[in-house]
Amino acid sequence: MNYILQFIEQNQDAFLNQLFEFLRFPSISSRSEHKDDVHRCARWLADHMKSLGIGNVNVFETLGHPIVYGEWFHSANAPTILVYGHYDVQPVDPLNLWETPPFEPSVRNGKIYARGSSDDKGQMFMHLKAFETLLRAEGNVPINIKFLFEGEEEAGSNHLDDFVEKNPELLKCDVVVISDTEWFADGLPSICYALRGIVLIEVKVIGPNRDLHSGSFGGAVDNPAEVLAWLITQLKNRYGRITIPGFYDNLLPLSEEERNAFRRLPFDESNFRSEIGVGELFGELGYSTLERIWARPTLEINGIVGGYTGEGAKTIIPSEASAKISMRLAPNQTASEISEKFINHIQSLAPPTVKIETVKLHGGNPVMTPIDSIWIKKAQIALKQAFGVEPVFMREGGSIPVCETFQRVLGASPVLLGFGLPGDNVHSPNESFSINNFFGGIKAIALYYKMLGQDNQTSF
Ligand code: BES
Ligand code: ZN
Repeated sequence: MNYILQFIEQNQDAFLNQLFEFLRFPSISSRSEHKDDVHRCARWLADHMKSLGIGNVNVFETLGHPIVYGEWFHSANAPTILVYGHYDVQPVDPLNLWETPPFEPSVRNGKIYARGSSDDKGQMFMHLKAFETLLRAEGNVPINIKFLFEGEEEAGSNHLDDFVEKNPELLKCDVVVISDTEWFADGLPSICYALRGIVLIEVKVIGPNRDLHSGSFGGAVDNPAEVLAWLITQLKNRYGRITIPGFYDNLLPLSEEERNAFRRLPFDESNFRSEIGVGELFGELGYSTLERIWARPTLEINGIVGGYTGEGAKTIIPSEASAKISMRLAPNQTASEISEKFINHIQSLAPPTVKIETVKLHGGNPVMTPIDSIWIKKAQIALKQAFGVEPVFMREGGSIPVCETFQRVLGASPVLLGFGLPGDNVHSPNESFSINNFFGGIKAIALYYKMLGQDNQTSF
């Protein structure tokens, strides 16, 4: 243990500098103008992995962005873990709200500021540094590790499912370890045991073959923007209940035991509210805020466009209008079931005056991981040893689409060992990652790997 701590201590600057190099690539997966940047980032990552002594490093091209793979296979009779992470990031707009540029990492108040610092480059990088630490400080990494890093998570992981389904042997493992989630609060190490699934669909309402003068045609032609607005009101009522037929049919009810466990967490609702600047919260009646976010399905309009919104006036009936709509799914809903129900509902409402097109953008099923396994037990101990605080269990409202695919195809459940903090601004301007969690997390992961290599050992 001392050698581990010493190595991390001595290499703090090197680790940070390498992370900064990684963060400088603008690997925004959803923007085609960044395709080259995503590829360059993948190659840098592969080179870095090779330099650490990781074997069989490969950059697999896909129809989208590359998958970077590498392995360490020198521990007969020890477990094999699959470490998954993503090196792609979310877009950065609005750029003017960043205090320092998103791809020029900088340190302020004990935090690293950059797009991807927490989600997920900073967190996935900790696994590489923990691996390096064990290998160099102790001369051995006592487990087998398959590293799998993708470049499309923030765009829906559209090609990774296929890769997993076609390569079950390559990815075969005992457990999947992922650092891409957050702690419940600063100073409170957390293990996440459930993620919501997601379906994202674009709805296009198509009317006349061009924008029309609203005086010459208004009153005689249906308005696509109005049809879209009306359609949207048919999806959810004012009490947060989704009104798509059959939407809640397969949902697993939340147990009283779990609801009680949520209530025991130190959640400060007024803080939550004031931090996001809203006067009142909103959500499905009969459920607490944590239940609404973690365990209930939801439907959100992510964006609407249509017609003229520029300076001054332009009196038209727009030719079309569209909205991107996401739904978060809870166990046991599935992405295919819910997208079908959504599309059927929309099409059944479609008036004959317009054409409605729906485009499925991506989907992922919800996932739950058992918390009584040896993998979780050891994660609890590693966190306690690294941070000196007993970790709590939590769920997460966000999604990691491939998680359920791992569980279904590889038969391996994920250990969601995240190190982000609620104030990290993931997907927002000024994304950050706590330096304390970065180094503490490297320590926790190194201890975890070590513990996984020792039969039933749960302390040092
Ligand atoms: N790291 C997040 C998941 C997450 C979000 C964990 C919030 C903890 C708190 C992940 O990278 C993510 O944002 N996923 C997307 C997936 C989508 C684009 C398919 C999400 O949840 O929106
Ligand atoms: Zn992420």
